[in-house]
Parts: sequence; structure tokens; C-alpha cells
Amino acid sequence: MRRRTALGLAAALPACARAQQAPRPDTLRAIARAAGRGFGAAVRADLLASDPAYAALFAAEAELLTPEWEGKWLALQPEEGKFDFSALNAIIAFAQANRQRVRGHALLWQEAIPPWVATALAESPERARAVMEAHFSTVLNTTRAHIRDWDVVNEPIANPAGADVPQAGDNPMRDTPWFRALGPDYVEIALRAARAQDATLRLTLNEYGIEEATPDAEEKRTRLLALLRRLLDRNCPLDALGIQAHLQMRKPFDPAPFARFLEQVRVMGLAILITELDVREPDTLAADIPARDAAVAERVKLFLDTAIGAGCRTVITWGLTDRNSWLGSEPGVARPDGVATRGLPFDEALQRKPMWQAIASALRG
Ligand code: G3I
Repeated sequence: MRRRTALGLAAALPACARAQQAPRPDTLRAIARAAGRGFGAAVRADLLASDPAYAALFAAEAELLTPEWEGKWLALQPEEGKFDFSALNAIIAFAQANRQRVRGHALLWQEAIPPWVATALAESPERARAVMEAHFSTVLNTTRAHIRDWDVVNEPIANPAGADVPQAGDNPMRDTPWFRALGPDYVEIALRAARAQDATLRLTLNEYGIEEATPDAEEKRTRLLALLRRLLDRNCPLDALGIQAHLQMRKPFDPAPFARFLEQVRVMGLAILITELDVREPDTLAADIPARDAAVAERVKLFLDTAIGAGCRTVITWGLTDRNSWLGSEPGVARPDGVATRGLPFDEALQRKPMWQAIASALRG
């Protein structure tokens, strides 16, 4: 993302701004707002600038925007002390023109880390904390007026042995450069560092693989609950749990254990957000599109009814259209038969799918 993109997006703003004097009543953002909830989607600044139809769809359907790439460490501080907010600012400018809010994603993660950070983390705990605090200070103070909710720590829990990408050993904490540099307390250190920068920022811990009715998801939920309890017992600042919800249809979903988990989170006093909803179809599903779309919609409706029924008021999908979904490009995630994925509410032609109806119905509650 460079100046070209920001200029390109600036040119697109007036059209989008004109088109959105008031949200149309039959959009997911309007349906959610009418029910006192929020709907949004992950967005990419380069696509906002290059694809007017993509930009218009986000302006119409999303009230919340999560930068898919632009808020990550590699995007913001690729070299130590050299920050680049151009791509994130382009998303913030688009949000301002379309009366949208921007979520921050993600301050600490084991991916999208520049090589200089990996080197610093291996030097000493003191260097690791200094690097973390310097990043948080610049990023949170630069974005303070526009981003009021950040995924402070992304994916801290280790995957159990039965998970898709298991982490070796019984340690409940994922073995990441931050864990190796600062130990299991790195999550608390990060949350306290973020709170020290901004007393009113909503601090969110974001996790995946905790949705389905499988032994490994149940174990991961258990590990996550233990971490949340440990943090809150220490009066560590934490406001919300982000549930990524990259749903996998080859795994069963049972509302009961998931609802029990959500209730345990809710009684801790944490808000619950669905932060990255999309659906990975099983390879076994025939390529028959109506059947696939119906199966995806049924899973989404059951999942969201459970989450919203447990008090979740924010639903964010990981993109809006199949056209640009990571589901179609990520190795090991994309369908091995090469059939295009259909895990988002709009198809490649930006047409609504049964998943759109399922989300709308769940948001109406
Ligand atoms: O590297 C280029 C960079 O130079 C350029 O400026 C930028 C412009 O958009 O693109 C970058 O390319 C790729 C980027 O996606 C495009 O948006 C990166 O190489 C690639 O690694 C990056 O992948 C993203 C991935 O997270 C890693 O950050 C995926 O799009 C994104 O969907 C995925 O999202 C993650 C969530 O953050 C956390 N939860 C899981 C989810 C799926 O993996």
C-alpha cells in the first residue's frame, strides 16, 4: 500500500459518501443496528482503492471494518522506528466517509512479525518488552481518535493434539516468539501495556478453533477459560473475547457446549464478539452450488443464533465476498479440488447468498 492507493481511495470517497447518505434499511449494517447490534467485515485498503464495486459493497453493508492486513505489525512498523500508517489511514478515511467504525487487528500475534522483531525478541526479555511498549505507544496514540477496540493478543492458546495444526506438548499456551521471549505472562504484559496507553480502549483477546463440538475444540475452550480466569483473577485489564469463527463444516457443531462456554465467558463480565466469521466447506460437498450455499447458511444460522442468544452483539465476517477470501488462496484451507469457496455472504459477482439471509435472520434475533 503506498501513496497511490491512498490517493485512489480518496477519489473513491465522494461517490461512496454520496451513495450512503443514510444506510439502506435492507443491509446487514441496518438490520443489525435496528436490533441494537453491530455488523461488519474485514476489509483491504488496496481493494477499496482499486475496486469501486467492492468499496460500495462495504459502504452499504458494514458498520464495522477490521483491517485484514493494515493493522498488523509487519504493515505498521516493517523496520524498527519506521512506521507506515498510510494503508490503515486509508481505511480510517473510508470509514469516516461512510459513518463506520474501525476495529484494530492485531497488536501481538505470531504471524506478520517483521524479521527485526523476531531478532529483538530473541535478545532478552527487556528488549522484548521495550519493543512491545514502543509499538503499542506509537500505534495506539496515532490511532486513538479512530480505533477504540483492538485485538491486543491474537491466538495465544496452543492447539491440542487433535487439532488441525497441533502444537506439541501439553503447554496450554501457544509456543510463539512472544511466549518464548516473555513466558506465559506475555498476555498480561501486553494487556497492561495497552491499558497504560489508553484508559478507555476496549481490549480484546482473539482466538480461533473454539467453536465446534470436537474434543480438540473442547480442550481449547477449557485452556482459554483458564487463561481468562487467570488474567481476571490478577485484575488484568481485559474487556472482550473475540471468537474468530472460521467455521469448518467437516466438523460437527452443537449449540449446547458452545452456549455453555459463552455463558462462562459472559459471567466473567467480558463482552463477546464474533470477529472473523466465514465457513470452510468440506471437500465432500458436491460442487452443486445451491446445495453448498444452503448447507453453509444452515451452519451460520445455527452458530449465530447460539452466539447472539448468549449475548453476542457484534458479528464481523472475514471479508464480504468470495472474490477475495483467504479461504480460496490459503494453502491447506482452499478446497483441494480447486472449486472456488463460498464461505462469505456475497458471491464473486457481489450477489447476496443464502448465508446473507442467515446472518440477517440471526441479527434480527
Ligand atoms: O506482503 C504484502 C504487503 O507487502 C502488501 O503491502 C500488502 C498489501 O495488501 O499485501 C501483503 O500481502 C499479503 C496480505 O495478506 C494481503 O492482504 C501477505 O503477504 C499475506 O501474508 C497476508 O495474509 C493475511 C494473513 O492473515 C497473514 O497476515 C490474510 O490476507 C488474512 O486473511 C489472514 O487473516 C488471519 C487473521 O489476521 C487472524 N485469524 C486468521 C486469519 C486467516 O489466516
